[in-house]
Amino acid sequence: MTEQVLEHELVLARRMSRLGTETAFEVLAKAKALERQGKNIIHLEIGEPDFDTPPNIVEAAVDALHKGWTHYGPSAGQPELRQTIAEYVSRTRGVSVAPEEVVVVPGGKPIMFFAMLALIDEGDEVIYPNPGFPIYESMINYVGGTAVPIPLREDRDFAMDVDEMAALITDRTKLIILNSPQNPTGGILPRADVEKTAKVIGNRNIMVLSDEIYQRLQFEGEPFSIMSIPGMKERTILLDGFSKTYAMTGWRMGYGVMRADLAAHITRLMTNSNSCTASFTQIAGIEALRGDQSAVDKMRGEFERRSRAFVDGLNKIKGFSARMPKGAFYVFANCTGTGWESKRLADALLDEAGVAALSGTSFGKHGEGFLRFSVANSMENLMEALRRIDAWTKKNL
Ligand SMILES: Cc1ncc(COP(=O)(O)O)c(C=O)c1O
Repeated sequence: MTEQVLEHELVLARRMSRLGTETAFEVLAKAKALERQGKNIIHLEIGEPDFDTPPNIVEAAVDALHKGWTHYGPSAGQPELRQTIAEYVSRTRGVSVAPEEVVVVPGGKPIMFFAMLALIDEGDEVIYPNPGFPIYESMINYVGGTAVPIPLREDRDFAMDVDEMAALITDRTKLIILNSPQNPTGGILPRADVEKTAKVIGNRNIMVLSDEIYQRLQFEGEPFSIMSIPGMKERTILLDGFSKTYAMTGWRMGYGVMRADLAAHITRLMTNSNSCTASFTQIAGIEALRGDQSAVDKMRGEFERRSRAFVDGLNKIKGFSARMPKGAFYVFANCTGTGWESKRLADALLDEAGVAALSGTSFGKHGEGFLRFSVANSMENLMEALRRIDAWTKKNL
């Protein structure tokens, strides 16, 4: 690219300096650049299923295009999809949800952004998991809130310590973010801890953003949503979507479930930003939720099998140790035994071993000492990645 000489300085709004990022996309770009130079890279950095969207969903979208679902639709989503989501969430979370409580948006991410724009004033405190999905912290800071991290620890299998969380609540706490199964750790919040969290919140007017995007990818036990606890529904914004469950990351479709008055405000944010989510994808979303679910079960089984094999392999490599995740498709490996800082180690593995992974610090300061490997890659590639990491450690440690 030729460098452009510009006459005028770019003067950004101050808030832009508070915006964070999702490093996965940067590492992916770097890995792709290395590939263009002829290097062979195994991609374990990006958080998306390596499976194709199930064919019944693709067919439904093609059919919808032919039938003319190519126009603007209502900002909150197509009524039939909102109805289908309401039924699906009522069934899977054991709580009665009405279509007016559903807002369809382009991916799960916009629900984080919109919820914070709608609820967080300057100085309001938001408790969020750390290590955690980096967009939480980015959005809290961007809207002027105060980000209050709750550390997730390996010795608790990365489940939040509810007593520790309770100690972080103040009069300024406006929102608590939960995420189970969790990115990047693969940890879950067991039912007893979810119930304890609701107890700790008690009668306070604190909202909960419950990010359940990996809900269908929990390996054991029944996922349990805080929304289903009596009294919590009106204080919960449930985030879910199609990206991970149905391997539809590039379709950009997710949703939030929340009290109807808040849903109306989130809908106003949709009108102001996107107008609506693409219409034909929403018709396919109805098929995703109502049609054959066997592809989801197959993916979950495969992610569990690969996670186990990858964890077993890593535990045999000098300097690394890992616990079996309880859901999602990430292995969050302890690399303190290497004596290397996480970021430096991730860079070295990419440059010298051809394995792209993410530093735990991409997910917040409490991620130091860890690397996140996505197992959304073939078993063959995962085994080759282990061979490369092993060879690298033998040479460098
Ligand atoms: C915890 C978590 N929530 C939400 C999302 C966003 O999903 P989407 O691609 O649907 O915006 C991700 C994606 O990686 C995630 O890991």
